[in-house]
Amino acid sequence: MTGNWQNWGDKRYADILYRRTRGELPEIESSKAVARRIKAIWASGDTIRDVGCGAGHYLVSLRRELGSRLDYCGVDHLQHHIELARKAFENDPHVRFELADLYKLPYANSSFDIVTCNNLLQNLPALREPLCELMRVARRALVMTTPISFARCILTIRSSMPLASHSNTIFTPHSPDNALSFGAAYAS
Ligand SMILES: C[S@@+](CC[C@H](N)C(=O)[O-])C[C@H]1O[C@@H](n2cnc3c(N)ncnc32)[C@H](O)[C@@H]1O
Repeated sequence: MTGNWQNWGDKRYADILYRRTRGELPEIESSKAVARRIKAIWASGDTIRDVGCGAGHYLVSLRRELGSRLDYCGVDHLQHHIELARKAFENDPHVRFELADLYKLPYANSSFDIVTCNNLLQNLPALREPLCELMRVARRALVMTTPISFARCILTIRSSMPLASHSNTIFTPHSPDNALSFGAAYAS
């Protein structure tokens, strides 16, 4: 499925991600925004999976907001990105990076308290399949930021909250239709 969408392999882009992770380039606004959004729902001990993590630069923002001992694992489908992320955090016992494809995450249902996936979905041919996969592995919340139709949308999809009682950026879990209809409305 992802075969046509392997346009991430540019080494110069990877180098920018790596330099961000190392603090040689500034944090991007979306990683700061996502870290703040996660902080609002995070409880001590929560596990965080960052799908499409690149070289791990969101961890810099997350640690600034949540402290250095958070249980974080970054996931990316490019070996090169995972190697850079591991290099940037080598000898750091509190972080892991794993090679995996968003379309087939090798994790059981509801494996992680909070899943985040940023600036990735807009480049995929369709939303439903990857969104379902992200929601499948998230136990409590999925936090995403992504540009849709030239606008930026940051949304939290989370469990145990009736859809009707929240703003239109919060959706019930395991019901991607809610999020998809939001995406469609946003893009129209
Ligand atoms: C535009 S970058 C975004 C990086 C970071 N999340 C951010 O917001 O700056 C997209 C990342 O997703 C990864 N990616 C693309 N397709 C993927 C897939 N099918 N499974 C896992 N990661 C994927 C790319 O390798 C790249 O690191």
